[in-house]
Amino acid sequence: MTEIPEHLLKRSRDRKAGGASSDAGAAAVPATTEPAAPVARAAAEIPAQKPVSKPDAPHVAAAKSRGRIPYWAMGTLALMPIFLFMYVRGLQPQKAEASGPIAIGIEQYGACASCHGADGGGGAGRVLKDGESQKTFPHIEDMLNWVYNGTEAYEAAGVASYGDPNREGGAHYPRSYNGSAMPAQGSMAGGALTEYEILGLVCHIRYDISGADETGEWAEEYEKWCSEESAIFLGLEDGSVTFESLPGVGTAPRLGTSADQEIAAG
Ligand code: HEC
Repeated sequence: MTEIPEHLLKRSRDRKAGGASSDAGAAAVPATTEPAAPVARAAAEIPAQKPVSKPDAPHVAAAKSRGRIPYWAMGTLALMPIFLFMYVRGLQPQKAEASGPIAIGIEQYGACASCHGADGGGGAGRVLKDGESQKTFPHIEDMLNWVYNGTEAYEAAGVASYGDPNREGGAHYPRSYNGSAMPAQGSMAGGALTEYEILGLVCHIRYDISGADETGEWAEEYEKWCSEESAIFLGLEDGSVTFESLPGVGTAPRLGTSADQEIAAG
């Protein structure tokens, strides 16, 4: 065992006593290698709670003068999570089209796909793709009327066929496909779709599924009925236009027109 010299023990005792009494001061003063006694004395001379009379170290002063978040910035900062959310949303790819008849049609096509196939290839319902829709309906008006009404309304009204009576391959008459009926789609005829949704579906079927060329043969029809700027579509959407008010459409089942016939002006 080594003997600890008496002067060292005393210094240790002094230091403990001094350290204990200067705790408050020591907290404010950076750790130091100086003996505790002078610190204790300094703390005793300086009035308690006022260690600030000792100038701050430059980095402490800088931190204090840097100031808190200004109150006017609080609102902006509070919105940060929303900005972040919008930013992340913005990075995601946009849907092909946000509005217009075709976009509505794409959205609604699920109501038809179960019978007509996701690609219009047919099933319980007739084939809609590969130009079939334009063959049956050279005029979009007749297609709107058919989808609105469906098979039973045509039968009930005693209309012999729908679409072009001179259709290549023969006219399509009610239940001529597999004996089953096409359900009415128009909300006033017992279906679930509004008139602008029906126009959207018919546009989607003609131009996407059935492949009509909106820059060629069908450009005029496309502009008038199916483009995003279509006044008819916008009118149906805001209620200023109805099928009833559109020449050649209407809501009562009626015989369709062939390609060389004109739709009678309203
Ligand atoms: C329950 C099955 C069923 C559903 C759902 C259905 N259809 Fe049909 N669709 C048929 C049948 C069956 C026919 C043939 C009707 C007939 O022969 O009387 C048909 C015929 C058609 C035709 C005529 C095609 C042609 O060239 O003759 C069009 C256009 C059409 N459907 C559009 C639609 C649209 C648009 C929807 C969705 C809003 C839809 N159908 C939903 C069963 C269905």
